Amino acid sequence: MAMTDYKEELVETAQKLATNGKGILAVDESTPTCGKRLASIDVENTEENRQAYRGMLFTSPGLGKYISGAILFEETLFQNHADGEKMVEKLAQQGIIPGIKVDQGLKPLAGALAHETYCSGLDGLTGRAAEYYGAGARFAKWRAVLQIANENGPTELAIQENAWGLARYARSVQDAGLVPIIEPEILMDGDHDIDKTAEVQEKVVKAVYRACEVNRVLLEGTLLKPSMTVPGAECKTEVTPKTVAEYTIQTMLRSVPASVAGIVFLSGGLSEEAASVYLNEMNLIGNTPWNVSFSYGRALQHSALRGWAGSNVDEGQKFVLARAQANSEASKGEYVPGSQVSSDEKLFVAGYTY
Ligand code: 13P
Repeated sequence: MAMTDYKEELVETAQKLATNGKGILAVDESTPTCGKRLASIDVENTEENRQAYRGMLFTSPGLGKYISGAILFEETLFQNHADGEKMVEKLAQQGIIPGIKVDQGLKPLAGALAHETYCSGLDGLTGRAAEYYGAGARFAKWRAVLQIANENGPTELAIQENAWGLARYARSVQDAGLVPIIEPEILMDGDHDIDKTAEVQEKVVKAVYRACEVNRVLLEGTLLKPSMTVPGAECKTEVTPKTVAEYTIQTMLRSVPASVAGIVFLSGGLSEEAASVYLNEMNLIGNTPWNVSFSYGRALQHSALRGWAGSNVDEGQKFVLARAQANSEASKGEYVPGSQVSSDEKLFVAGYTY
């Protein structure tokens, strides 16, 4: 099979994922990262506990009203819920499309700055993607990471290599019928200002779409998952949510083709509340060629994980539904800050690995 065989389906899936008023729940933490999350609530990192936690999220009553897709780690895609039914079946019952993280992690990039990386996982990717399709996945995610960190970064080498990797990935999974979510994350690490982030991000996203063109990626069958255009975590100059929104939308308008099906932001260490408020401000600007929504991990799960605390299903579901509803409202520019329970805790961790 090739991309051309899946063309209509890819466009249809991408449009469903980008439904106005819905966003994506990222629950694709690798097993070690999931372990760190569970350790924060004193829960052991066993398959049973990961199953219980993620099963709790997926069966939250009415979650599908706000969530169009869920990104899973491989274990979850093939896993059953504790009640014996498949996890993908639980998602299907809510009208949520299952997705899968297909990258195999960041590796040091020879010839670049010491902290710079490329994203691995291209070998055999179309074959793996076909197996995931068989298990029910209809979209994929690949996270490439660039760092400003100091005035030297990112290097041209890191930009080119990561853009190329994202485009190769995108075309490879389209050949197996999966919609690629293209994620070029610019980390918040560093003391640079918002102008520097905007300058770097515009360059990076443009490089990604040039590489997509060379690789003949069907843009209508893709989504972009960028970071927001924010100043470095240690920048001394504070900016308002409105400024973040204006910079972010300007960067997107300058670099993302109108044919892309949708933009779904990552939360990247923002607090739950900030992630909702920034998204809301972007949608108040409006008038963009794409649906502008969310694909949050930490900003959808932080208080849910604490509420669940290993066994409290009702509390966990209450919190994930509150954040999902808040972000759904934000994706329409209708969120009233503070109207849903959330946490203000900054979730930024320097040198964060997913
Ligand atoms: P965060 O929203 O926690 O940044 O995670 C989203 C994600 O999927 C990163 O790859």
